[in-house]
Amino acid sequence: ALVVRRRMKSTGRWARAVAILKEMEEKCGTPIGKLRQVADAMTVEMHAGLASEGGSKLKMLISYVDNLPTGDEKGLFYALDLGGTNFRVLRVQLGGREGRVVKQEFEEVSIPPHLMTGSSHELFDYIAAALAKFVATEGEGFHVSPGRQRELGFTFSFPVRQTSIASGDLIKWTKGFSIEDTVGEDVVGELTKAMERIGLDMRVAALVNDTIGTLAGGRYHNKDAIAAVILGTGTNAAYVERAHAIPKWHGLLPKSGEMVINMEWGNFRSSHLPLTEYDEALDTESLNPGEQIFEKIISGMYLGEIVRRVLCRMAEEANFFGDTVPPKLKIPFILRTPHMSAMHHDTSPDLRVVGKKLKDILEISNTSLKMRKLVVELCDIVATRGARLSAAGIVGILKKLGRDTVRDGEKQKSVIALDGGLFEHYTKFSACMQSTVKELLGEEVSETVVIEHSNDGSGIGAALLAASHSQYLEVEES
Ligand code: GLC
Repeated sequence: ALVVRRRMKSTGRWARAVAILKEMEEKCGTPIGKLRQVADAMTVEMHAGLASEGGSKLKMLISYVDNLPTGDEKGLFYALDLGGTNFRVLRVQLGGREGRVVKQEFEEVSIPPHLMTGSSHELFDYIAAALAKFVATEGEGFHVSPGRQRELGFTFSFPVRQTSIASGDLIKWTKGFSIEDTVGEDVVGELTKAMERIGLDMRVAALVNDTIGTLAGGRYHNKDAIAAVILGTGTNAAYVERAHAIPKWHGLLPKSGEMVINMEWGNFRSSHLPLTEYDEALDTESLNPGEQIFEKIISGMYLGEIVRRVLCRMAEEANFFGDTVPPKLKIPFILRTPHMSAMHHDTSPDLRVVGKKLKDILEISNTSLKMRKLVVELCDIVATRGARLSAAGIVGILKKLGRDTVRDGEKQKSVIALDGGLFEHYTKFSACMQSTVKELLGEEVSETVVIEHSNDGSGIGAALLAASHSQYLEVEES
């Protein structure tokens, strides 16, 4: 009788765990009709954000980039890329039309976590010091004309209200950064002061978001590039807009008639988004509650954390991992998206990668194959929702540009430059995102839309924009 009772109990547990998973699946559903609503809502919010300052959750920030790289850029330029858990410094010798990228070198430096929530001074001092160290190693193959100041493209991947191509105030931090005294400050001023403090003679020639840098890098390689999307720690998009279609822009009309817009789509929100109780709890407990909702269900910083939250519920309410809740499972952000990706891609018949991750990261041992399968299913639910929603976002941009249909049989090509660790490393995510774009556009239009991986576009892109905004350019041209 005891044996029978125990078995009953465990099937009861199992049924409860499955029920939690199925409920998650249902709540995360992204049928094509819903995705179309999300894409339409994105288009509507784009219009609203362009119409007036504060007109939408989408800030639609003006980048002051009205010309993208042509290939003529020449000279030595530096770039500094700050936006995730690492920052990168880079130098590139541009050879103009014939030479293109003659030589490039970069270095990646991790940011000590305490600097992400400390003081502005400390963060910028740390960055300036790393940059100075890098500049000191400049060697053969890199040339600055004598008497010239070195110039830098600063990729700063947070929402900034730009006041010119090389200045702008931080609107708010995202992605786990939270340094109060930087908010509202000109980040170029902050960096410049830090460089002066350590005696590094360098001028910031362009301040750009990573999406803008990626678009610039994408255009350098492919003249049909019209938009860029980042799927990494955070998520965002930028695209080329007609200056006439930006009512809130009261400045001079650029000669090109165009302006690149940083959408800050991570802050997009719509009643059509499939949100769950787990997303709500994650948001409430985050550093920026109520903000970046689209980002919190799509991007790399959060996907693993959503999975952890669901597993935690399964452990608490269905004793999924035994009679007690594994203590490690209660630690926020312990399960990171790369771990989730590794489990999701496990092709071994006994799902041994899943078993190993559960053991190594969460200290849960003795999981059965059945349990591991459920974990993989959960990863799939969470990744699929994010991938399909990001596809809907992309289609929203194409709609805004009138590129979601083929007009008069004219097959105008639209290249979208993609970058970010999530896109690059989470294969199932990117594959799902791309097939969903096709599904939404239909076969004929799909042939005109190309998603191109712009490998480190944002670093090179910032250097290219520094080149086209160099203080020495006009002197040379006249
Ligand atoms: C966050 C930032 C945004 C950036 C994106 C990708 O959404 O707010 O500026 O482009 O992450 O790094």
